[in-house]
Amino acid sequence: MTLDGHGAFPNYPGSDRRPNQVSALFRHMWFDRFDDVTTVVMGRRSFLGHQQTWSEKARAPGEPKWLLEYRRYLDRVDKVCLSRRLRSTDWENSRILKGDLSRILAKLRREKGGNILLEGGPAVVRECLQRDLADDYWFFVMPVVYGKGPRYWGPMKSQCTLNLVETVPGEDKEILLHYEAVR
Ligand SMILES: NC(=O)c1ccc[n+]([C@@H]2O[C@H](COP(=O)([O-])OP(=O)(O)OC[C@H]3O[C@@H](n4cnc5c(N)ncnc54)[C@H](OP(=O)(O)O)[C@@H]3O)[C@@H](O)[C@H]2O)c1
Repeated sequence: MTLDGHGAFPNYPGSDRRPNQVSALFRHMWFDRFDDVTTVVMGRRSFLGHQQTWSEKARAPGEPKWLLEYRRYLDRVDKVCLSRRLRSTDWENSRILKGDLSRILAKLRREKGGNILLEGGPAVVRECLQRDLADDYWFFVMPVVYGKGPRYWGPMKSQCTLNLVETVPGEDKEILLHYEAVR
């Protein structure tokens, strides 16, 4: 998200850099979890955006090897697209589910267990916060006040307090804020 809480992908110094080695932050957020995340869940817009940008089919010539590893991970992991209107998907290892988010997550937990990673968008993340559906939250905050795009933050029925687990600086002035739910 941007500093002002928008779900967007703005440009800022370094944002389109593709280093030869995966950064420590990206490794921590993704590569270190490849083995224990059983399912990645996304809202329909995020799912379609990820498929278009990050599947191996979207690979650009000359990309570093680590980026290909990330693309292959996203292709092979089980994915759930939340949608009421989409009928089918051609992204491998994917299915479409609809309904109450808490029931969907409970069903996935029953099916496979392990870590379920809900990768946005903003409305779904906010629903998790409102309804206390997630054990922890990883916010990747970019150093930009953007002023447009879907918003993470909006009206809440009640205050939601989180416990800060770690902060990790990124190489291009981003910061990862990792919180866990307070129960
Ligand atoms: N991590 C990320 O994914 C990420 C990060 C930063 C920015 N963004 C940006 O955020 C935008 C998307 O965010 P968003 O909040 O607008 O959309 P989103 O969460 O990606 O998708 C919203 C859609 O998900 C479906 N949905 C959500 N809950 C559902 C449920 N319980 N059952 C069935 N369907 C459900 C609905 O699709 P139907 O209309 O098909 O029913 C809804 O319109 C994108 O433009 C993306 O660029 C995403």
